[in-house]
Order: sequence, then C-alpha cells, then structure tokens
Amino acid sequence: MNISDERLRKAYEALKEVGIHARVFLSMPVVENATPACLDDQKQAERANTDEGLERRHGIFSLKEASLSVLDHLALYGDGCFEGILIKNNQIFLWQEHIERFFKSAEMLHISIPYSPKQLTELLLRTCQAVDPSLREQGYIRLVVSRGMGDLGINPAKCIGATLFALASSINLYPRSYYEQGISLGVSRNIRRPNAQILNPNIKSNNYINNVLGLLEGAAETDMESIMLTERGFIAEATVDNIFSIERNKDWESDTSKVVARTPRAQYCLIGITRALTIKLLKEEGYTVDDDADMMPIDLMGENRECFMTGTGAGVLPVISVIGKVIGDGRPGPITKSLVEKIQATMNNPAFGLSIDADAAEIDNYLSSPSLLYG
Ligand SMILES: Cc1ncc(COP(=O)(O)O)c(C=O)c1O
Repeated sequence: MNISDERLRKAYEALKEVGIHARVFLSMPVVENATPACLDDQKQAERANTDEGLERRHGIFSLKEASLSVLDHLALYGDGCFEGILIKNNQIFLWQEHIERFFKSAEMLHISIPYSPKQLTELLLRTCQAVDPSLREQGYIRLVVSRGMGDLGINPAKCIGATLFALASSINLYPRSYYEQGISLGVSRNIRRPNAQILNPNIKSNNYINNVLGLLEGAAETDMESIMLTERGFIAEATVDNIFSIERNKDWESDTSKVVARTPRAQYCLIGITRALTIKLLKEEGYTVDDDADMMPIDLMGENRECFMTGTGAGVLPVISVIGKVIGDGRPGPITKSLVEKIQATMNNPAFGLSIDADAAEIDNYLSSPSLLYG
C-alpha cells in the first residue's frame, strides 16, 4: 500500500500493528439473524452463564474477527461507558479501582453488567493471557460496556442486554523526551466542560464528542492536549487528562507543607485514578493538597510554579507552557520531576495491581482487599 499523506500513513501503520497483537473479549446476547456471526464459532465462543433470560455467548477473538452490531446503541448513540487500563510488568495496574469505577459508571447509566466483578476479572485475565507476551511488559486494555443491540430509537427499553468487550493491545505513550522536557498545552475557549447536570464528568461514558471538539479547538495540529474550562472560565481538566498546578512557597525545601498542589474539584472533571494516586503521593511528601479547587485560574504563570497533567496513558506529564505562556522557568520543576519517577516506581510495585496469571483465590483476595488509593 502506497499512502502519500503522512498523517494517513501513520494512522494506517498504527492500526495494522494493533491488528497483529490485539485480542478482544466479546460478549452479547444471542438474537437470531442479528448477533454477529463470530459468536457462532464453536471453537472460539461459548455460552455464558448469566441469568438474563436470553442466551448469551462470549469469546476471545483477533481484531479482524471481532465484530459489533450496527444496531448496537454504542454505535448509534454513544450509549455506553468504558475504562482505559494499563498493563505493566505482567500486572493490571490499579485494576480494583478501574473495575469499581466501571461498575459505578454503568450503574449511573442504568446499564446492567451481566457478570460479577470476579467473573469479569477472570475473563479479562484470559484475554490478557491470549495477547502477544511482549505486551505483558507494557500494554493497554480498553474495557467497554454498551446498552447493547436494539431497534432504532434511543429508548433503552428497546435494547435486549449489554454488549461487553475488552480490547487488550499496545499503547502509544508519549515519548520519553516529553517527560524530560515537558509539553505545551492549548486551551479550548469556546468548547467548555459542561457541568454535571449536562454530561456528568464522573460517568466515564463513550460520549466524548465534546472532548473531541475541545481537542480540535485547542490542539488540532499537535499530538498534545488542550485544557477545557468550566462554564465560568476556570480550569476543569484536559480532554483526556486531569490538571494539577504546584506553587512552591518560601522555605518549601525545609518545610514541605509550603508546597501547595491544586487540582479542580470533582464536580468539574473525571475523578481520574491517576489523579487519586498523585494526590496520595503528594500527601505522602507532606505537601498541602487542595483537590477541591473551585476556581483554578488559567493563569498558571509565576516564578515558583509548576504544572503537570495526569492520566492512565500519560502518567504524570510535565506541562511547561499553556498557549505559549511559559510556566516557571520553562522546564519541568523539581516537584513534578520527582513525581514522574514516583509514579513509574508505583507502576512497578506489585502491590498496586493484579497479576495477569492470578488464580481464582488470588483474584478473590485482591478484589476483597481495601483499595490502596481509596481505603
Ligand atoms: C476526561 C478525562 N479526564 C481525566 C482522565 C484521566 O483519568 P485516569 O487517570 O483515570 O486515566 C481521563 C482518562 O481517560 C479522561 O478521559
């Protein structure tokens, strides 16, 4: 294939690469003449043991085999929710926190997940075990539940039961140099983060249209991020990351409480799992943390200031300027730099995840232990 457009060529190559390694867990109710044929394949799909009153089948497929129905309300209306999860050093990083948020999002959408957390964990581990072993070192899982197949029309009453899928694949993290040099962010001025009454940011729904428009407005030509503002014009979050600002006040080196970290209150942003981990790590250093900032100004400049964003894909990524205005001295600050390292160390700590090879007893034990982030 000879593609001359550079952007298109890169997108094509990336997709081809995912196609080689990815494995997809797929689960759907069976409706004659409607459920995609891949689930008929006796070798790859089996009957799921659920009590929905309709037969359900599930299986693990390659990317080109797995298919969704065009009548799935995820495709028709974005009616579903998801999690993005990191595989790191043979373990599913912060799985407990992700599965908890996944069930909560689904509950807020009134979507019933037909598996228990334990069943879902077992199925996810089987999917990860089927993936190319190289991805056990560093990989990514996209877990999605949708309203499922239904007649045309948005009414959920027309749907027959959730579609679930989990794609285990690779992830393109930001290059190492970005963590050393920091990145520049744009600002979406017109497209705002709506308040919780319009699109509750704490339902991690598949409706990302507003964020896509925010990114196109704030950072269209780059592979960077854009800050989205609240309706009143203060920082809410970035399009797929949370934002933190750091203020190093006088004598901070001898008194760590003089370091003040701020991040917008949960009403304005997704309560990111990396955000929660970051807050924990900042507090462990004795820094003052305000994770309930009501009016975080877009003006992040100042001599002793730092800024970074957090997310499952990004980890902690230093931000050195916003729409060209330099933060601090234009380089990642000392607090941010040490946080980047601490997050990396936490990802390699087996206490913060579930092994891909965990057996049933280990899964039970893991899921019933208190969360290291939320207690
Ligand atoms: C809008 C938004 N904010 C924040 C985040 C970061 O959340 P997490 O740290 O859980 O990945 C995400 C991640 O997808 C996101 O989509």
